[in-house]
Amino acid sequence: MIKHIKLNKDNLAFAIKVQNEIFPSEDATKMYTGMVNGENDNNYFLVYNGDTCIGVSGLSHVGGEVEDGFLGWFGILPEFRRQGLGSEALRLLDETARDLGYRRMRVLFNTDTGFQGAKTFLKVNGYTAEPYQCPRDKESLAGNYAILSRSLYNEKCEPWNNRNLHISENFK
Ligand SMILES: CC(C)(COP(=O)(O)OP(=O)(O)OC[C@H]1O[C@@H](n2cnc3c(N)ncnc32)[C@H](O)[C@@H]1OP(=O)(O)O)[C@@H](O)C(=O)NCCC(=O)NCCS
Repeated sequence: MIKHIKLNKDNLAFAIKVQNEIFPSEDATKMYTGMVNGENDNNYFLVYNGDTCIGVSGLSHVGGEVEDGFLGWFGILPEFRRQGLGSEALRLLDETARDLGYRRMRVLFNTDTGFQGAKTFLKVNGYTAEPYQCPRDKESLAGNYAILSRSLYNEKCEPWNNRNLHISENFK
Protein backbone atom coordinates (compact mmCIF):
# COMPACT_ATOMS: atom_id res chain seq x y z
CA MET A 1 0.00 0.00 0.00
CA ILE A 2 1.31 3.41 -1.01
CA LYS A 3 1.58 6.16 1.57
CA HIS A 4 3.10 9.63 1.80
CA ILE A 5 5.10 10.61 4.86
CA LYS A 6 5.61 14.32 5.35
CA LEU A 7 9.20 15.47 5.83
CA ASN A 8 10.28 16.27 9.37
CA LYS A 9 13.57 16.79 11.21
CA ASP A 10 14.10 13.02 11.57
CA ASN A 11 13.70 12.01 7.92
CA LEU A 12 15.03 15.20 6.26
CA ALA A 13 18.58 13.95 5.52
CA PHE A 14 17.23 10.68 4.10
CA ALA A 15 14.70 12.56 1.94
CA ILE A 16 17.45 14.78 0.50
CA LYS A 17 19.44 11.65 -0.38
CA VAL A 18 16.45 10.08 -2.18
CA GLN A 19 15.65 13.35 -3.98
CA ASN A 20 19.29 13.67 -5.13
CA GLU A 21 19.25 10.13 -6.44
CA ILE A 22 16.13 10.76 -8.54
CA PHE A 23 17.03 14.33 -9.58
CA PRO A 24 20.88 14.39 -9.66
CA SER A 25 21.03 17.90 -11.16
CA GLU A 26 18.50 19.52 -8.80
CA ASP A 27 19.04 20.03 -5.09
CA ALA A 28 15.97 20.28 -2.89
CA THR A 29 17.93 20.85 0.32
CA LYS A 30 16.95 24.52 0.66
CA MET A 31 13.23 23.98 -0.02
CA TYR A 32 12.98 20.77 2.04
CA THR A 33 14.81 22.33 4.99
CA GLY A 34 12.74 25.49 4.67
CA MET A 35 9.52 23.49 4.90
CA VAL A 36 10.69 21.50 7.93
CA ASN A 37 11.70 24.76 9.65
CA GLY A 38 8.37 26.41 8.82
CA GLU A 39 9.94 28.90 6.40
CA ASN A 40 7.75 27.97 3.45
CA ASP A 41 4.27 26.46 3.21
CA ASN A 42 5.12 23.80 0.63
CA ASN A 43 4.40 20.16 1.40
CA TYR A 44 7.08 17.55 0.71
CA PHE A 45 6.80 13.83 1.27
CA LEU A 46 8.67 10.55 1.13
CA VAL A 47 6.67 7.95 -0.79
CA TYR A 48 6.50 4.47 0.71
CA ASN A 49 5.22 1.17 -0.61
CA GLY A 50 4.63 -0.70 2.61
CA ASP A 51 7.89 -0.32 4.56
CA THR A 52 10.00 0.46 1.48
CA CYS A 53 10.77 4.01 0.44
CA ILE A 54 10.17 4.24 -3.34
CA GLY A 55 10.43 7.98 -4.00
CA VAL A 56 9.57 11.55 -3.14
CA SER A 57 6.69 13.88 -3.90
CA GLY A 58 5.67 17.44 -3.20
CA LEU A 59 3.08 20.14 -3.58
CA SER A 60 3.51 23.89 -3.72
CA HIS A 61 1.75 26.94 -5.11
CA VAL A 62 2.85 30.17 -6.68
CA GLY A 63 2.08 33.43 -4.91
CA GLY A 64 -1.65 33.91 -4.29
CA GLU A 65 -2.71 31.23 -6.81
CA VAL A 66 -3.90 29.00 -3.97
CA GLU A 67 -6.22 26.83 -6.10
CA ASP A 68 -3.38 25.65 -8.32
CA GLY A 69 -1.12 23.03 -6.79
CA PHE A 70 2.25 22.50 -8.47
CA LEU A 71 3.87 19.11 -8.38
CA GLY A 72 7.35 19.55 -6.92
CA TRP A 73 10.07 16.90 -7.18
CA PHE A 74 7.73 14.00 -7.78
CA GLY A 75 9.75 10.91 -8.62
CA ILE A 76 10.05 7.15 -8.20
CA LEU A 77 13.45 5.49 -7.64
CA PRO A 78 14.66 3.71 -10.81
CA GLU A 79 14.34 0.17 -9.42
CA PHE A 80 10.61 0.67 -8.71
CA ARG A 81 9.55 2.22 -12.02
CA ARG A 82 7.10 0.83 -14.61
CA GLN A 83 5.07 -1.09 -12.06
CA GLY A 84 2.23 1.43 -11.80
CA LEU A 85 3.55 2.79 -8.49
CA GLY A 86 4.11 6.33 -9.81
CA SER A 87 0.51 6.51 -11.02
CA GLU A 88 -0.71 5.17 -7.69
CA ALA A 89 1.38 7.72 -5.76
CA LEU A 90 0.07 10.50 -7.99
CA ARG A 91 -3.54 9.52 -7.34
CA LEU A 92 -2.89 9.44 -3.61
CA LEU A 93 -1.28 12.87 -3.78
CA ASP A 94 -4.48 14.17 -5.43
CA GLU A 95 -6.34 13.47 -2.19
CA THR A 96 -3.82 15.50 -0.21
CA ALA A 97 -3.99 18.25 -2.80
CA ARG A 98 -7.79 18.46 -2.48
CA ASP A 99 -7.47 18.54 1.32
CA LEU A 100 -5.08 21.49 0.93
CA GLY A 101 -7.73 23.33 -1.10
CA TYR A 102 -6.26 22.96 -4.57
CA ARG A 103 -8.71 22.59 -7.47
CA ARG A 104 -6.18 21.92 -10.21
CA MET A 105 -2.78 20.24 -10.45
CA ARG A 106 -0.05 21.81 -12.55
CA VAL A 107 3.42 20.72 -13.56
CA LEU A 108 6.07 22.99 -15.01
CA PHE A 109 8.05 20.92 -17.47
CA ASN A 110 11.18 21.81 -19.42
CA THR A 111 11.01 19.70 -22.54
CA ASP A 112 14.75 20.17 -23.21
CA THR A 113 15.96 19.02 -19.80
CA GLY A 114 13.01 17.10 -18.29
CA PHE A 115 13.16 13.35 -17.79
CA GLN A 116 12.33 11.21 -20.78
CA GLY A 117 8.95 9.63 -20.25
CA ALA A 118 7.71 12.12 -17.65
CA LYS A 119 5.44 13.93 -20.11
CA THR A 120 3.98 10.63 -21.32
CA PHE A 121 3.51 9.57 -17.70
CA LEU A 122 1.58 12.77 -16.97
CA LYS A 123 -0.54 12.53 -20.13
CA VAL A 124 -1.42 8.91 -19.34
CA ASN A 125 -2.48 10.21 -15.94
CA GLY A 126 -4.89 12.76 -17.43
CA TYR A 127 -2.74 15.89 -17.78
CA THR A 128 -2.89 18.13 -20.85
CA ALA A 129 0.00 20.29 -22.01
CA GLU A 130 0.21 23.92 -23.10
CA PRO A 131 3.35 25.90 -23.92
CA TYR A 132 4.62 28.30 -21.25
CA GLN A 133 6.16 31.47 -22.62
CA CYS A 134 5.63 34.56 -20.50
CA PRO A 135 7.37 37.73 -21.70
CA ARG A 136 7.73 39.00 -18.12
CA ASP A 137 9.26 35.69 -17.00
CA LYS A 138 12.58 35.84 -18.84
CA GLU A 139 13.58 32.30 -17.85
CA SER A 140 10.52 30.96 -19.69
CA LEU A 141 11.82 32.38 -22.96
CA ALA A 142 15.23 30.78 -22.48
CA GLY A 143 13.93 27.19 -22.42
CA ASN A 144 11.32 24.99 -24.05
CA TYR A 145 8.77 25.05 -21.23
CA ALA A 146 5.30 23.53 -20.96
CA ILE A 147 2.67 23.50 -18.26
CA LEU A 148 0.75 20.28 -17.81
CA SER A 149 -2.58 20.56 -16.00
CA ARG A 150 -5.39 18.44 -14.67
CA SER A 151 -8.55 19.22 -12.72
CA LEU A 152 -8.82 17.64 -9.27
CA TYR A 153 -12.60 17.69 -9.65
CA ASN A 154 -14.99 16.66 -12.34
CA GLU A 155 -14.76 19.98 -14.16
CA LYS A 156 -12.99 21.53 -17.11
CA CYS A 157 -9.44 22.52 -16.26
CA GLU A 158 -8.70 26.13 -17.10
CA PRO A 159 -5.39 26.51 -18.91
CA TRP A 160 -2.61 28.35 -17.09
CA ASN A 161 -2.59 30.95 -19.87
CA ASN A 162 0.98 32.13 -19.38
CA ARG A 163 0.48 33.81 -16.03
CA ASN A 164 3.88 34.75 -14.60
CA LEU A 165 5.43 31.86 -12.66
CA HIS A 166 8.64 33.71 -11.75
CA ILE A 167 10.54 30.52 -12.56
CA SER A 168 13.87 31.71 -11.14
CA GLU A 169 12.34 32.50 -7.73
CA ASN A 170 9.84 29.67 -7.41
CA PHE A 171 11.31 26.69 -9.22
CA LYS A 172 15.08 26.93 -8.75
C1 LIG B 1 7.99 9.64 -14.43
C2 LIG B 1 7.98 8.64 -13.26
C3 LIG B 1 7.45 9.32 -12.01
C4 LIG B 1 7.06 7.47 -13.65
O1 LIG B 1 6.96 6.57 -12.53
P1 LIG B 1 6.50 5.06 -12.72
O2 LIG B 1 6.26 4.46 -11.40
O3 LIG B 1 7.48 4.37 -13.62
O4 LIG B 1 5.14 5.28 -13.51
P2 LIG B 1 4.02 4.17 -13.85
O5 LIG B 1 4.59 2.79 -13.74
O6 LIG B 1 2.82 4.48 -13.05
O7 LIG B 1 3.76 4.49 -15.38
C5 LIG B 1 2.45 4.67 -15.92
C6 LIG B 1 2.55 4.89 -17.41
O8 LIG B 1 3.28 6.10 -17.69
C7 LIG B 1 4.03 5.94 -18.91
N1 LIG B 1 5.45 5.97 -18.62
C8 LIG B 1 6.08 5.91 -17.40
N2 LIG B 1 7.41 6.00 -17.55
C9 LIG B 1 7.66 6.11 -18.87
C10 LIG B 1 8.85 6.22 -19.66
N3 LIG B 1 10.08 6.27 -19.08
N4 LIG B 1 8.73 6.32 -21.00
C11 LIG B 1 7.52 6.30 -21.59
N5 LIG B 1 6.34 6.19 -20.91
C12 LIG B 1 6.42 6.10 -19.57
C13 LIG B 1 3.66 4.56 -19.45
O9 LIG B 1 2.53 4.70 -20.28
C14 LIG B 1 3.31 3.82 -18.16
O10 LIG B 1 2.48 2.70 -18.37
P3 LIG B 1 3.16 1.29 -18.82
O11 LIG B 1 4.31 1.02 -17.88
O12 LIG B 1 2.02 0.32 -18.68
O13 LIG B 1 3.62 1.47 -20.24
C15 LIG B 1 9.41 8.05 -13.03
O14 LIG B 1 9.93 7.58 -14.25
C16 LIG B 1 10.38 9.07 -12.47
O15 LIG B 1 10.44 9.25 -11.27
N6 LIG B 1 11.16 9.73 -13.36
C17 LIG B 1 12.18 10.68 -12.91
C18 LIG B 1 11.58 11.88 -12.22
C19 LIG B 1 10.56 12.60 -13.08
O16 LIG B 1 10.59 12.63 -14.30
N7 LIG B 1 9.65 13.25 -12.40
C20 LIG B 1 8.66 14.06 -13.03
C21 LIG B 1 7.39 13.36 -13.05
S1 LIG B 1 6.10 14.51 -13.14
